[in-house]
Amino acid sequence: MNYASHPLSWLLALWSVAVPGAWAADVRSPDGRIHVTVNVDASGIPEYSASYQGEEIMPAGKLGFRFEAQPAFDAGFRVAGTATASRDDTWEQPWGERRFVRDRHNELRVDFESANGAPRKFSLRVRVFDDGFGFRYEVPEQPGYRAVNITDELTEFRLDPELPATAWWIPGRRYNRYEYLYNTTGLDAIHMAHTPMTVRLPSGVHLSFHEAALVDYAAYVLDQRRDGVFKTNLTPWSDGVRVKTQTPFKTPWRTVQVAPNAAKLLDSTLILNLNEPNKLGDVSWVEPGKYVGIWWAMHTKQATWASGPQHGATTAATRRYIDFAAKHGFAGVLVEGWNLGWDGDWFFNGKQFRFSEPYPDFDLKAVTDYARKKGVRLIGHHETAADLGNYEPQMAAAFDLYESVGVRQVKTGYVADAGDIRRIDANGVEVHEWHDGQFTVNHHERLLREAAKRKISINTHEPVKDTGLRRTYPNWLSREGARGQEYNAWGTPPNPPEHVVVLPFTRMLSGPMDYTPGIVALDGYDDENRVRHTLAKELSLYVVLYSPVQMAADLPENYERNPQAFQFIKDVPVDWDESVALAGEVGDYVAIARKQRGAPHWFLGALTDEQPRQLTLKLDFLDPRTRYVAEIYRDGPRADWRTHPYDLVVERRPVTAADTLELKLASSGGAAIRIRATR
Ligand code: NOJ
Ligand code: CA
Repeated sequence: MNYASHPLSWLLALWSVAVPGAWAADVRSPDGRIHVTVNVDASGIPEYSASYQGEEIMPAGKLGFRFEAQPAFDAGFRVAGTATASRDDTWEQPWGERRFVRDRHNELRVDFESANGAPRKFSLRVRVFDDGFGFRYEVPEQPGYRAVNITDELTEFRLDPELPATAWWIPGRRYNRYEYLYNTTGLDAIHMAHTPMTVRLPSGVHLSFHEAALVDYAAYVLDQRRDGVFKTNLTPWSDGVRVKTQTPFKTPWRTVQVAPNAAKLLDSTLILNLNEPNKLGDVSWVEPGKYVGIWWAMHTKQATWASGPQHGATTAATRRYIDFAAKHGFAGVLVEGWNLGWDGDWFFNGKQFRFSEPYPDFDLKAVTDYARKKGVRLIGHHETAADLGNYEPQMAAAFDLYESVGVRQVKTGYVADAGDIRRIDANGVEVHEWHDGQFTVNHHERLLREAAKRKISINTHEPVKDTGLRRTYPNWLSREGARGQEYNAWGTPPNPPEHVVVLPFTRMLSGPMDYTPGIVALDGYDDENRVRHTLAKELSLYVVLYSPVQMAADLPENYERNPQAFQFIKDVPVDWDESVALAGEVGDYVAIARKQRGAPHWFLGALTDEQPRQLTLKLDFLDPRTRYVAEIYRDGPRADWRTHPYDLVVERRPVTAADTLELKLASSGGAAIRIRATR
């Protein structure tokens, strides 16, 4: 029973605290399927557990903290009180994969205090939605705990280690940040894993562990300490402390998305719902859009970021890209390598970067004036090489410069091994931080505010993981934070066929990704490093991998040689009213439909791993009163990523909501479909 909401809850609570180990309170999702119980065990350790439709999905996991200078919050607690609340609101996204988001949840707050009267107290706030739950710690001001250094957070996510579950995960705390291929393993193979980590239980229930609203705190990795016990391992500062804070403070939400099958996970809005509303006010200046750029040429070694005869970012080249963007309706042109600092081994020499000084063959004013005339905007670039000691003092002036020439979007970059973010500490000494430690988390927030003051939006590469802060700061458009397209140019190995079939169910659950799709010259470079997709699959990425900014990453001349495929890239929007996952299994296949923002047209993307397969998809998401023409870009009869990647068939046929689509996907194939409303 739900003690907390019972009219006599205070009585029951009094009774239960008197009996050690007997106290418990619980809360259910609005649909009743997810059930979270909070309790205090016999030694006064706060715990929580969860079940789904009567099946225990998470046995009791402990809660708590250790501090550098104060007694820990680990055992010896009792419950001082509880409170419940419920909400059912709908809020609007300025841009997104859906316009309206319903926030319907039940909440339980449990207040803990020391059982022996010592001054220790905190609350756990739990919110349970139909698509999962989140909980966070709220630590009030209390004697002896003004300034606190957290040395460990004791939160456990527990799974039954005996169950033959499957997990999709990338290693945590390793040098290449989030840029690993996903592992598909049993639970026992996991040591430290980044989140989101997705798990399929034998019952078919899918769980994804992550966090929401990571603000002024360290990210965590899941650390399997004992079989089935995944503990939060907070990323440390360079001095070993995990989080430096003071009471009162709140932690980010620890989240568990729960779905009856893989596809349902994709429709989850839990992470956004657990973030604070927009803090920036009017954000009509934040502009989703597609872009091209001086980029792939460098990754494929046809041009250089550095100065010299091959320099990519010249005034003349930028004008050509602006002409191309204007001709084909792209909003932005990204230019990398225009500012001083790229000569020599910039990876290890971030101090060289000058964010307001161009190379002599690049005239910023001339190209931005030219872009404005053509109705296109330059997209700025700040590659910091993770030297924030060098970048932060230049940041405000660099954004001023961009603002003065009409740049509205900046791609930032933090290329460096994980743990090698450089900053100057209070003693003037250079120290090394992690990409997901509290220092860097706070850097990103500082940067977003500086950018917002100048109506500039951000697309972060080598970022901290996304925890849904786009809701609070809608100028945080997108980020990388996984292996993107660039690995197909130089990665060892390049992205295998399965990679983009794992991403939607893992990395993408955290938010938009700047994967930079749209390579149409799939095998132009060498045998090893090529795009391991068919052309139709590459097109489907624009629908499947959500981002409000999408690059057409290939060279203009390659698009000019492939007008048929390019047409889809020109037609596909980046901003949506609705998104519906139609089918999928993690790492096998996925199909997603999205309705264009402010227009009656739908787009559908479907793709598969190396296994060819046939998908039968109902079009019942369409409006039953509207007639449509489906423009289908699909794998041709000989298509196979290895042997015939370019075998693309484009066909048109009328469809309605009553129809079913049969899609044949080739090995590493896909389909990209524009479903245009005709009346
Ligand atoms: C890595 C980024 O992911 C990539 O897009 C960029 O071109 C390079 N860094 C250089 O900044
Ligand atoms: Ca990268």
